[in-house]
Amino acid sequence: MSDHNQVKITNMDYSKERPAAENPVKIQDLSLRDGHQSLFATRGRTEDMIPVAEKMDEVGFWAVETWGGATFDTMHRFLNEDPWERIRTLKRYMTKTPFSMLLRAQNLVGYRNYADDVAEAFVERAAENGMDVFRTFDALNDYRNFETVVKVIKEYGKHFQGCICYTMTEPRMGGDVYNIDYYVNKAKDLEAMGADTICIKDMAGLIAPYDAYEIVKALKAAVKAPIHLHSHFTSGMSPMSHLKAIEAGVDIIDTCMSPYAYRTSHAAIEPLVMTLIGTNRDTGFDIKQLAEINEIFEKKVMPKYKHLLDDSKVSIIDISVLLHQTPGGMLSNLVNQLREMDALHKIDEVYKELPRVRKELGQIPLVTPTSQIVGIQTVNNVLFDDENERYKMITGQVKDLCYGLYGKTAIPIDPDVQKKALAGYQRGEEPITCRPAEVLEPELEQAKSDTEGLAQDLDDVLTYAIYPITGKRFLKWKYGKEDPPIEVKPRTLEEIKSEEDLVKLAKLGKLVRKVEKKAPPKTDALRTFSVFVDEEYFEVGVEEPGGSPIISYVQQLPAGAPVSMPAPAAPVAPAAAPAAPKPAAPAAPKPAAPAEPAPAPPKPEAPAPAAAGVEGTPLKAPMPGMIVKYLKQVGEAVNKGETMVILEAMKMENALSSPAGGTVKAINFSSGDSVAKDDVLCVIG
Ligand code: CO
Repeated sequence: MSDHNQVKITNMDYSKERPAAENPVKIQDLSLRDGHQSLFATRGRTEDMIPVAEKMDEVGFWAVETWGGATFDTMHRFLNEDPWERIRTLKRYMTKTPFSMLLRAQNLVGYRNYADDVAEAFVERAAENGMDVFRTFDALNDYRNFETVVKVIKEYGKHFQGCICYTMTEPRMGGDVYNIDYYVNKAKDLEAMGADTICIKDMAGLIAPYDAYEIVKALKAAVKAPIHLHSHFTSGMSPMSHLKAIEAGVDIIDTCMSPYAYRTSHAAIEPLVMTLIGTNRDTGFDIKQLAEINEIFEKKVMPKYKHLLDDSKVSIIDISVLLHQTPGGMLSNLVNQLREMDALHKIDEVYKELPRVRKELGQIPLVTPTSQIVGIQTVNNVLFDDENERYKMITGQVKDLCYGLYGKTAIPIDPDVQKKALAGYQRGEEPITCRPAEVLEPELEQAKSDTEGLAQDLDDVLTYAIYPITGKRFLKWKYGKEDPPIEVKPRTLEEIKSEEDLVKLAKLGKLVRKVEKKAPPKTDALRTFSVFVDEEYFEVGVEEPGGSPIISYVQQLPAGAPVSMPAPAAPVAPAAAPAAPKPAAPAAPKPAAPAEPAPAPPKPEAPAPAAAGVEGTPLKAPMPGMIVKYLKQVGEAVNKGETMVILEAMKMENALSSPAGGTVKAINFSSGDSVAKDDVLCVIG
C-alpha cells in the first residue's frame, strides 16, 4: 500500500533553488514568544526583536508567534513596554508573514476568566492592531470558554486555531481519561466550532514519538482541518515526536531559531530543515539564511539574556518530566516556592501529594493556569495540613475551580473537597454547570471609569482591565505620572560588557579596584548586580551618571546570603518598631520559571513602618507575595477567622484570615506592595 504521508526522498537537488516538495511541512517560528518565554522568563524586549525581524520575514514561515501568553504580563510589569505597541512595531518590519498569538480563551492573556465584554474588546483590539492567527486554548479543554472569543475572531476574518491541551495520567497516552478517543472527540468539537487549524498543544513535552504518530494519524482521519503540533523539548522527546508526526502526515510544526531552542523551549528549525531536504516533506527553507539570523541573535541579542538562562544543570533535558508527567515550568515553580519558604526538603512529599490533589480536583490538564492551581494547592497542603485535616488553606483559585468558574473538569471534583472549598464562598455554595463567563458581570465600563483621566484609548483600558494593579502602575509610567523604577530599564550591550569584565577580574582574583578619585555619593541611578564566583558572592553597585558606568562599590558577602535589591535613595526605616516590615524583601537571583513571571520585584522605597508600640496579635505573611487588598481598615472590628487580607503568591490569591477577634490596630502595607514571608501585614488588638 502506498502511503502518501510516508517521508520519501523525491529529489536529489539539494541546492537553494531545489524543486518544491510534494507536501512541504509548514513551520511556525516561536522564538519571539514561546522561545524567550520558555528560556528567558518572557523578558524579550521589542528592541531586541527588530534586528532579526526583516530577515525572519523572508524565511517563509507559516506564521511567526509574536504575542500573547505571558508576554502581555511581563511587558507591562517588568519591561515598561506597552504590549499593544509591540504588535504595531513588529508589523512594520514583518509585512509578509502572518502574526500569531497564544490566546488563553476567556482568560485572554491573564490568569482568570474575564467577562464577555472585556474578552470581545480584547480580541477586537488584537485583530485591529495586526494579529492574524489566534491560537486559542483552554486549560480544561472546555470549549464553551472559546465561544465568546471565537465569534470575534471569525467576525474579523482572522484565523482560528483551536488547541487540544495534551496531558496524561499514565506514563504513555491511554488510561480512562486522556486516551485516543478523547483527542479525536476534542478535534471534532473544534472542527464543529469552525477551527481553521487544530493544534495538539503539548506544553510540557510529554508526547512520546509513537503516541504522536498515533494521534496525528487518528486526527487526520477524523477531521479535515490541518493538524499542527506544538511540543516543548523539555523531556528531550520532541525532535523524535516531530519526525513521527511528519511521517503520520502532520501539516504544521512549531520550532525556534537555535539560540532560542531546546531546554524547556522547542526543537531548533535547522536540524529539521536538513532532515527533510530532498524528501516529499522538504520545508524548502534556505539553511544559510537561517544561519545569518542566528548570527544576529548570538552577537546582538543573546548577551543581554544569557544571564537569565537556567544553567544550574549541565543537562539540557529534564527527565523529571518523564518521571512525574508534570510540566517542567510547574516543577520549577514548586521548587522556587518551597525554597522561598525554607521547605525545599519537602519536595518528595509534594511529588506524592500532587497526583492526589490533581485527581481530587477533577484530573484536570496541567497547563497555565491549572498547573499553578494544582501546584500551589499541593504546596499548601504539604505545608499547612496535619493528620486531622486536609485542605486547611484553600486558595481562592481552587474555590473558583470547585464552583465551576474555570469550566468543566475531566472527571467530577471530589465532593468532600468541593464542599469544603465552597463553604462560605462569596458566589454561592452550589456549583454552577453553565458556561463560566455567564455568571460574570460586565467589567469594561467599570474599567473605563476607573481609568478616567489616565487611559487614552481602549488599549490602555484593557491593559488595566486585565491587570488592575500592575496595569494601572504601567499607565502611570507610560504617561509620565510616575517614574518607572530603574529595574525596568533595558540593559545595553555596554553594560553587559562591563559586568562581564568584572566577572573576569573576580575570577583572576583582581577584584580590588584602585580608587583613583573619591567615589561620588550613591544616587537613584545605582543598580546592584550580584556576581557569583564559585562559592564567593559579591554585590556590585554600578551607576551611570550620563557617561560610562562607574563601579560604585564592590562588597563581598557570605555565600548564600540573600540577594537584596538596592534601596539607595530611600530613607532608612525608623528603627525597630517590633512589627516593622523588613526594608526590602529578598529577591530571587533569577526570575521565576518561564511559564509564570515572578511576583513584582520589591519596591525600592522603604515600606511604611508599623505604628510603634501597637499591641495585639500580628497577622504574618505565610509566604512571600504581593498584597492584593485589605478587606478591613484600621479601627474596624474583625472576627477571628474572618478574611482580612488577600495575598497574591505565585499568581494565586490566598485569603488570609484574622488570627484573633478585635479591632484592626495597624495595617502595614498597601495594595500592590511586595511582602516577604513573616512580614507583619496587620495587627489585631
Ligand atoms: Co508552548
